[in-house]
Amino acid sequence: MEHGTSVTGSGNVLDRRMAPGEDEMSLTTRQGHPVKNNQNLRTVGTRGPATLENYQFIEKITHFDRERIPERVVHARGAGAHGYFEAYGKVGDEPVSKYTRAKLFQEAGKRTPVFVRFSSVIHGGHSPETLRDPRGFAVKFYTEDGNWDLVGNNLKIFFIRDAIKFPDMIHAFKPDPVTNIQDNERFFDFCCNSPETMHMVTFVQSPWGIPANYRQMQGSGVNTYKWVNAEGEAVLIKYHWEPKQGIKNLTQAEAEAIQGKNFNHATQDLYEAIERGDYPEWELFVQILSDDDHPELDFDPLDDTKLWPKEQIPWRPVGRMVLNKNPENYFAEVEQAAFGTGVLVDGMDFSDDKMLQGRTLSYSDTQRYRVGPNYLQLPINAPKKRVATNQRDGQMTYDVDMAPGQNPHINYEPSSLNGLKEAPREEIDYMPHVEGKLMRASIERTNDYKQAGETYRAFDDFEKKELISNLVNALSSCSPVIQEKMIHHLTQCDEEYGRRVAEGIKQHGTSSHHGPLGATHTHEAVEDAERKGHSTDS
Ligand code: HEM
Repeated sequence: MEHGTSVTGSGNVLDRRMAPGEDEMSLTTRQGHPVKNNQNLRTVGTRGPATLENYQFIEKITHFDRERIPERVVHARGAGAHGYFEAYGKVGDEPVSKYTRAKLFQEAGKRTPVFVRFSSVIHGGHSPETLRDPRGFAVKFYTEDGNWDLVGNNLKIFFIRDAIKFPDMIHAFKPDPVTNIQDNERFFDFCCNSPETMHMVTFVQSPWGIPANYRQMQGSGVNTYKWVNAEGEAVLIKYHWEPKQGIKNLTQAEAEAIQGKNFNHATQDLYEAIERGDYPEWELFVQILSDDDHPELDFDPLDDTKLWPKEQIPWRPVGRMVLNKNPENYFAEVEQAAFGTGVLVDGMDFSDDKMLQGRTLSYSDTQRYRVGPNYLQLPINAPKKRVATNQRDGQMTYDVDMAPGQNPHINYEPSSLNGLKEAPREEIDYMPHVEGKLMRASIERTNDYKQAGETYRAFDDFEKKELISNLVNALSSCSPVIQEKMIHHLTQCDEEYGRRVAEGIKQHGTSSHHGPLGATHTHEAVEDAERKGHSTDS
C-alpha cells in the first residue's frame, strides 16, 4: 500500500497513512508515533534512573495494566465460535407462521449468522473444563430484525425457580469467602434448604454434570418463552439444541484423568474440530404449549425446575445450526461477547417465568459494568443491520448511531428538524391481559420431588451408581444436619435413591475434609468408577 492511502477511504479511525520510512509492519504507539526503540526505557545514562516523560513506555505499560476486564460473575470460563442457523420453514409438520412471525424461521433454507459461547459456570476464567458444573450454551442470532440471544445451558432445568434466590445460590456454590475454596457443605447447605434444587442436583451429580466436551452436549433455553404470530396470538415455548455429534458425558474418574493432563480440553476440542473442517452441528427443537396455566399438568409450565415431558409435549424441529469459524481474537469476540435473555426479535416474547424476568434485568446490567455502557457498539455485540438511536456519549463511545442524512444537531425525538422518527407500526401488538394481587409468594404446584425421582429411575445402572458415589463422597464431608436433610429430600424423590445415599454415607463415615465440589474421593469410589470405566454415550 502506498503512503497516504486509507484502507476504508472514510473517516480518521481506520485511516492507515504511513510516515516516511515506515512500512506496514513498523511498530507505532496508539498515537501513531513510530516506535524506534522497543527494548530500552529512556534513562539517564545507561544505568538510569528512568524519567517520567517516557510516553511510549507509559502508554504501553498502563494499557497492559488494564488488559483484563472484570470476569463474568458466573460463566467466566468459555469458548466461542461463529456459524449459521438454517431454518426449516416449518415447526415439525406445520408451517412455523402458525405460531411465530419471527422472520428468521419462516423460509426453508434461510441462513442467519450466529455466534455461540459455551462455558462452565462457577469457577474463574482459566479453571479446568472438567469440573462438575452445568455448561452454558449461549447463541447470538444476527437476524434482519436485529439480534436474538438464546442464553441456555446444556441441562434442560435449573436449581431454582425464582430469580431473587440467584445471588444466594451462586454465593453458596462459589468458593468460601474466607478460605477461597469451594465447599460441599456450603453447596448442600443451600440445596437442602431449597428442595426445588433436588431435580438439578440429581442431574449435576450424575455423569450429566460433566459433559465430555462442548460439541457432544445438548443445549436448552431452560426458561419458558413465548412465540407470537401475525394475528398477535401467543403460545408458550421451550427451546432445545440436539447435537448431531451425539451426547457424551464423563464419570468423575474419567474427568480427573483428563484434568491431570489438560485443563483446556473442551476449548481445544472445539477449536481443533473447526480448524480441521469437522464442523459441529445442532438441530433446534421447540416444545409448544397453549398460553395458559395448564391445570391438567402436575407442575407449572413456568417452573424451570421441571422438564416438559417429551411424550406429552413433543419436540418439533425448526432448524439447524453449524459452527464453521473460529474467533480471530479471543478477547474481542469471546470475552467481550454479551448475551442476554432480554434480546428478542419481533415474533417472540417473554413468559411470566420468574427466573426469566429476573435474568432479563441482570444480563444487560452486568454487561454495562463488565464491558462498559457502549458494549453494544462492539462488533461482536452490534446487530448486523442498521442502528439509529438517540443514545449518545458514555465511556468508550466508538460511533454515533446516526441515520444517513439525519440532522446531527437533533439527538432527540419527536422533532420537525430531520431527526429520527418512530418506525412504522406494521405488526399487531401482542397485548397479554395481566391481573392479580401484587404479592411475594411461591407458585402453587411446586411438586419438588416427583420429576427428580423419575429422572433417577430413568438413569442407567452405571449412571445411578456414579450419582450415588458422587453424592456420598460430597455429603460425607458435610455436617450431620445437612446429610439428614439431603437424605430426607432424596428419599421423597425415590425411596431407593435416598436409602442408597444414606447407606453410602454410613459406610463412608464422616470426614472432616471439606473438598471442592465433587473432588473428595474415597479409594473405593474411585475404583468403583474406574471399574465402570466408560462414558455416558447416548
Ligand atoms: C451468564 C445472571 C440463570 C445461563 C450470566 C451472567 C449473569 C447471569 C449476571 C454474566 C453475564 C455477563 O457477564 O455477560 C443470571 C441470573 C439468573 C441466571 C440472575 C437467574 C435469575 C441462568 C439460567 C441459565 C443461565 C437458568 C440457563 C438457561 C447463562 C449463560 C451465561 C450466563 C449461558 C453465559 C453467557 C455467555 O456466554 O456470555 N448469568 N443467570 N443463567 N448465564 Fe445466567
